[in-house]
Formats: sequence, structure tokens, C-alpha cells
Amino acid sequence: MRILFIGDIVGPPGVTFLREALPVLIRHERLDFVIANAENAANGTGLTPNLYKKIREAGVDLVTLGDHIYKKAEIIPTLNADDRVCKPANFPPDAPGREYVVAPAKDGTPVAAFCVLGRTFMRSVDCPFRAADRVLKELEGKARCIVADMHAEATADKYLMGHHLKGRVSAVLGTHTHVQTADEHVMEGGTAFLCDVGMTGPYESILGRRIDRVLPTTITFVPSAFDVATGDVRLGGAIVDVDAATGRAAAIRRVMFDEKGLAALASEEPFAG
Ligand SMILES: [Fe+2]
Ligand SMILES: [Fe+2]
Repeated sequence: MRILFIGDIVGPPGVTFLREALPVLIRHERLDFVIANAENAANGTGLTPNLYKKIREAGVDLVTLGDHIYKKAEIIPTLNADDRVCKPANFPPDAPGREYVVAPAKDGTPVAAFCVLGRTFMRSVDCPFRAADRVLKELEGKARCIVADMHAEATADKYLMGHHLKGRVSAVLGTHTHVQTADEHVMEGGTAFLCDVGMTGPYESILGRRIDRVLPTTITFVPSAFDVATGDVRLGGAIVDVDAATGRAAAIRRVMFDEKGLAALASEEPFAG
């Protein structure tokens, strides 16, 4: 089974490119399942019900989020009612949303996803390692193919989670820092790992925001609106090949598609079968 995990979708450019790219990728990469982190979909922070619907319609099976989860309060009823989107599992029990989500892949194999927040240079949250243990206990008998989204600032936190979960989940994939790292590998026990899969949004930017706003504000301390940038839109993610029966990952590949790469892919004949 082939799973695509897509990194933080940022603003209208990210959502628009996702809608354009994903049907092509599903066909040409023979994807069986798609998971995406959508914490920055609504103008860079948060998610709205309308954008959530668009992301799901584009072909995303499960949606994870992060520290920006509640920035658009109108998403809260969706978080309470919808069974394809989850909150960080180490948020307070009373925080709206599910701690994990499960959905069938093309062949019917259940695939689960959950996210946790790291604790270094981030808001105070409960222990991500214990939260992951709790989620895995809940998932016993429900799914063997499990993807953990480690939404964290520090690479050490991400590696710690990889080693904590190796041999227990199909993949530990990093989000939040928006810059793709080059350390993809399959850990002992069949757990695919990558520190950050990269964002899906405008790369001519500071992590998705306009350079001409973030840079002067950083230098002078004079505030400005950190609007979402528009240039060089790409989709960042990782494709993981997983044994559907055991949940063990066999391979991981980093992907970064821009308009040109997508056009080249779309012009090729899709794989037979
Ligand atoms: Fe984040
Ligand atoms: Fe993000």
C-alpha cells in the first residue's frame, strides 16, 4: 500500500495547488491513501469548514492539524462531528476534536493517523510520548497501518518520537517547520521517518509568509500583516510504501512537486493497472 503524507497546506496558494496536483499524483504515483496537515490552510493560520471540504474533495483521506488548530473558531463543530480530522493528541482532553482518525484505504485496509505537538519552543502541552502510547493502545485491533504526524519545532523532538514509536507505527513524519529535511529512512522495525516533509504552499517566502513583511518587522520590530506569499508554489510530502498486512514500512521517498514537475508528470502515461 502506498501512502502520501502532505505537509502543512499554507493559505489559498497551497489549497489551490493541492486541488490541482493531488488527482494527478494519486493517478501517477498509484496512491492508495492520502493524509495531509492542514493547520495553515486558512490564510496561513487555522482551517475553516469550507477549506476542509475542499481539501477532502481533492483526495485527502485524513487531515491532521497543529498549534494553529483553533485559530478559526468556525472549525470547532467540524472537529467535534467529523471523523476524518483530528486534534493534537497531547492537547487537553476537553479541547475539541478527536485524538486519532481511521479510514479505509482503496483495498479496504484501515489506516490511522494522529498528530502530537513537540514541547521545545512551543506552547505547553501534555507529554507527546505518553499521548502517542495512549493513542496506540486505543488503536489496537483497529488499524496496523498507522501514521504519526510529529508537529514539532526541534529535530531532536522528532527523532525522539521516531525512536519511541519505531516498530509500533508505519511512519513518524514531521511537520510545523515547513522546510523539508533530507533524512528520510526506514527505522528498525519498519517505521518510515522524515524530520519534516515540507509545506504545501509558496516557497518564495518565509515559511509561507511574504518576505517583504516578515523581514522588515524582524529587523525593526514594527509590526506588519504577515500575509501569505504567492510565488513558487510547491507540494511537499513523503510517499511511504507499507505492507498492508503488518503495517511495516518498506520504503520512504521525499517528494516536492512544483507546477513544472506536475505538468511533466501529467504529460506521462499513467502506470497500467
Ligand atoms: Fe505548526
Ligand atoms: Fe504549519
